[in-house]
Amino acid sequence: MAHILPFLLLTLLAATASAHNITDILAANPDYSDFNGFLSQTGLAGEINTRQTITVLVLNNAALSAVAAKHPLSVVKNLLSLHILLDYFDNTKLHQIPNGTTLSTTLYQTTGNANGNVGSVNITDLKGGKVGFGSAAPGSKLDSSYTKSVKQIPYNISVMEISAPIISPGILAAPPPSADVNITALIEKAGCKTFASLISSNGLIKTFQSTADKGLTIFAPNDEAFKAKGVPDLSKLTNAEVVSLLQYHAAAKYLPVGSLKTTKDSINTLASNGAGKFDLTVSVAGDSLTLHTGVDSSRIAETILDSTPLSIYSVDSVLLPPELFAKSPSPAPAPGPVTAPSPSPVSTPSEAPSPLPASPPAPAGETPAGAPADAPSSEAERSTSGKSDGVHVKASATLTVAVIALSAFVISATFM
Ligand SMILES: *[C@@H]1O[C@H](CO)[C@@H](O)[C@H](O)[C@H]1NC(C)=O
Ligand SMILES: *[C@@H]1O[C@H](CO)[C@@H](O)[C@H](O)[C@H]1NC(C)=O
Ligand SMILES: *[C@@H]1O[C@H](CO)[C@@H](O)[C@H](O)[C@H]1NC(C)=O
Ligand SMILES: *[C@@H]1O[C@H](CO)[C@@H](O)[C@H](O)[C@H]1NC(C)=O
Ligand SMILES: *[C@@H]1O[C@H](CO)[C@@H](O)[C@H](O)[C@H]1NC(C)=O
Repeated sequence: MAHILPFLLLTLLAATASAHNITDILAANPDYSDFNGFLSQTGLAGEINTRQTITVLVLNNAALSAVAAKHPLSVVKNLLSLHILLDYFDNTKLHQIPNGTTLSTTLYQTTGNANGNVGSVNITDLKGGKVGFGSAAPGSKLDSSYTKSVKQIPYNISVMEISAPIISPGILAAPPPSADVNITALIEKAGCKTFASLISSNGLIKTFQSTADKGLTIFAPNDEAFKAKGVPDLSKLTNAEVVSLLQYHAAAKYLPVGSLKTTKDSINTLASNGAGKFDLTVSVAGDSLTLHTGVDSSRIAETILDSTPLSIYSVDSVLLPPELFAKSPSPAPAPGPVTAPSPSPVSTPSEAPSPLPASPPAPAGETPAGAPADAPSSEAERSTSGKSDGVHVKASATLTVAVIALSAFVISATFM
């Protein structure tokens, strides 16, 4: 047993360190600088880094420029999302596709913008060793092809260059300006009628519509959320309190999933009126995102809209700010880091190297940008991946146990 503990320690450190960073991978080749820049600007880099099994079909600057130059960032984002496959393909696998043709789902499929097969890519092993790529939408041509392999970390991430952008029907059509999106209609349709009627009757919808093209994120509780036990009786609140509660469900910032996944800081909401007031924190487990208020927490259920600079999500629970609904018997925490970001123990591997259970990271802006933001998700995913050997899985699945084991190791080492 004694010599397994150091091994656990090594495994754990390796796990935290080995997560991929697409920005770093592409930075090695200046031909991909434009593609790389767009991945960062659109938050897609964060998405790629927090997914465990992914293939990025990269375009060199020349191949990308024609299409990128002519379109707004929201279109470029959709287009690049179609080049991110939610599966692992490398040179070998491309040539071993059963029956020589397959469809792969892409990140574009997860944005809520793609209908039918429009969010998938057709990969076909053509004669003469050539591999063609095209939209999976019926009638599309395979007018892009595999050029070369860029980087592989089997079976986590593969980066391959293709010759031309994959264009699916409608993907280049500019979405309406965010200010023209009928937010009420969208969230009603997504099953958030109560929230829609509350923001309309309180006039908040005007604020939403007028800030939509400057960067806005809305977390709309679905209708079930308002029927849940423990949801406060809104008729017992003052008007000002209801408005604060509703404002608490939006941020004056564009936060696509990739940004939410990598954000280390707490998020100010439209209700925020001072440092640490009315803010939210996010925790990540695999592909699942949870918002924490300090009183309750809510899973992000669905992306209703992701159209730069406006993102709208439905959430499973009404978010209760501690400023209005302090639940703890201890005095309500005053300004400052109100809420422990309280991610589940499994999703805090960034703290793993410290043998002592670390206190929550400071919510303020000092977190270095280079923090391994991708660690939590891969940590959680890895525990279910089944690709690792026994000890490895055990170490990742029960991080808390591992941390205790680490402490034990440190202690026993001290006594040797
Ligand atoms: C793949 O990802 C997992 C989880 O992040 C990590 O433990 C593993 O070391 C990675 N594989 C490689 C070859 O980096
Ligand atoms: C390959 O083609 C055969 C015959 O058309 C079909 O029965 C089989 O399901 C295909 N396999 C795959 C993996 O698509
Ligand atoms: C991919 O496209 C080719 C050419 O259009 C087509 O023949 C093939 O059936 C498609 N593959 C799949 C899996 O739909
Ligand atoms: C937006 O949609 C709602 C509900 O469908 C409708 O009542 C409202 O008139 C629409 N607003 C605009 C500006 O079109
Ligand atoms: C990835 O690498 C880039 C460039 O080195 C760095 O700025 C960024 O913070 C890294 N991202 C993560 C999540 O570590």
